[in-house]
Amino acid sequence: MTETHDRGMPSEGAPTEAAHRRAHTRARDLERYAGLFAERTRVMRSSAMRDLMEITARPEVISLAGGLPDTSTFPPESFAAQMTRIAQESSAEALQYGPTEGFAETKECVREVMRAEGMDPDPDDVIVTTGGQQAIDLVAKTLVDPGDVVIAEAPTYPGAVPVFCSYEAETLQVPLDDEGMRVDELETLLDRLAAGGRRPKFIYSVPSFQNPAGVTMSAQRRRRLVEIARERELLVVEDNPYGLLRYEGEAPDPLYKLEGGDYVIYLGTLSKILSPGIRLGWLCAPPPVMEKIVLGKQAADLCTSTLTQYFVREYFAEGNWLNYVDDLRGIYRSRRDAMLEALERFLPRQATWSRPHGGLFCWATLPGYIDTTDLLAKALRENVAFVPGAAAYTDGRGGSAMRLNFSASGEDEIREGIRRIGSVIDEQVQLFETITGEHRTTSVPPASSARPPGRAGPGEGGAADGPGDVLPFRRHAQ
Ligand SMILES: Cc1ncc(COP(=O)(O)O)c(C=O)c1O
Repeated sequence: MTETHDRGMPSEGAPTEAAHRRAHTRARDLERYAGLFAERTRVMRSSAMRDLMEITARPEVISLAGGLPDTSTFPPESFAAQMTRIAQESSAEALQYGPTEGFAETKECVREVMRAEGMDPDPDDVIVTTGGQQAIDLVAKTLVDPGDVVIAEAPTYPGAVPVFCSYEAETLQVPLDDEGMRVDELETLLDRLAAGGRRPKFIYSVPSFQNPAGVTMSAQRRRRLVEIARERELLVVEDNPYGLLRYEGEAPDPLYKLEGGDYVIYLGTLSKILSPGIRLGWLCAPPPVMEKIVLGKQAADLCTSTLTQYFVREYFAEGNWLNYVDDLRGIYRSRRDAMLEALERFLPRQATWSRPHGGLFCWATLPGYIDTTDLLAKALRENVAFVPGAAAYTDGRGGSAMRLNFSASGEDEIREGIRRIGSVIDEQVQLFETITGEHRTTSVPPASSARPPGRAGPGEGGAADGPGDVLPFRRHAQ
């Protein structure tokens, strides 16, 4: 049988031979195009989550890897009614180009979402973007020259890393603890940079229910961060996809509200509270920055999907969006609780993890001798996936950490997924202890036997001993 492969080359024989030929063709192609690539492609990085999507789409895989909201919770009949209304009443307009900044009506929806968190931006300070991801990209495109310093949290949003890399930023990361970014360490870093005559282009932070660490920056640190930005005239980029997904506790004010919008660029998205498929995000920036961002967006995609913006307008006009967010909160709170219980039951004693008050992720840190990138290969053989921690760092740290998502799977799946992860970790722990002769102090119980309750309370079980990649989380840190 003859198969057609890359570039229509016929290929016969055993699959291994075909695979070999494909690899050879790719190598030749690479050689052929190598001289054409821009310098920046050397430092471009792929997105760990995107890479994993193909594998985790297989139905037998329990994926705790993506940052996917559960879109099956959105009522299909409501979606159908909204799209039908658009087709009947605004077909030509919805199928047309729109303004680069977004429609005034879309900006009104965005302002409604921001008002729910106590912010009220001027519509002229808002631009509608193609997801929150484009907002990050536009900020970097507008502000970063090759070699410029960008400051991010350690760990940071894994999807921001490829953006900062592709604009050739030097990304420096400031540690987090269970109160968010260590602003004291930030000040030390800023002093060190200033001593060398350097100034970061911006400080990127996800203050609420951070992706990937799940922690929330305390009110006190937020106030100090905003003061630092003012005192030193630095821009802070506040990325806030999860602020409304709070399952417990009081919400601290967003940085944008505290600061007023002179030194804070605010990024938002409907991806986690409505749908990531519609690709609708936004950005608020001071007018001079906004002017450049609009130029950047014109070059990127002219405008955000008009059809999407019509859908959002219809959806918000129904006046139920906050009820839907409320439903999501209830569903995700139970899933978070299922994950926390499963972590307690199935992870070894040496592991620590965050206890998020909202958002979509837990962050677990394992003993330093476990490399979670290697562990992922083993986990995939057991049909379970997570994001290895290294994806959240630009400097090779994070090797013994992992990000675990609890929004995209049901409670039983979460428990089973964590059980499988626990058992591949346990194999590694046993192997290590056999090789080193260390006394074995833990084991993962079989699925049917629960650990005694209260085995590790708040503050117990110190951080694991990873090579500088460990958040100083206590067990059960927020
Ligand atoms: C912190 C953060 N910023 C931005 C994004 C991207 O959002 P969007 O899907 O709207 O592009 C995500 C998605 O997971 C995120 O977690």
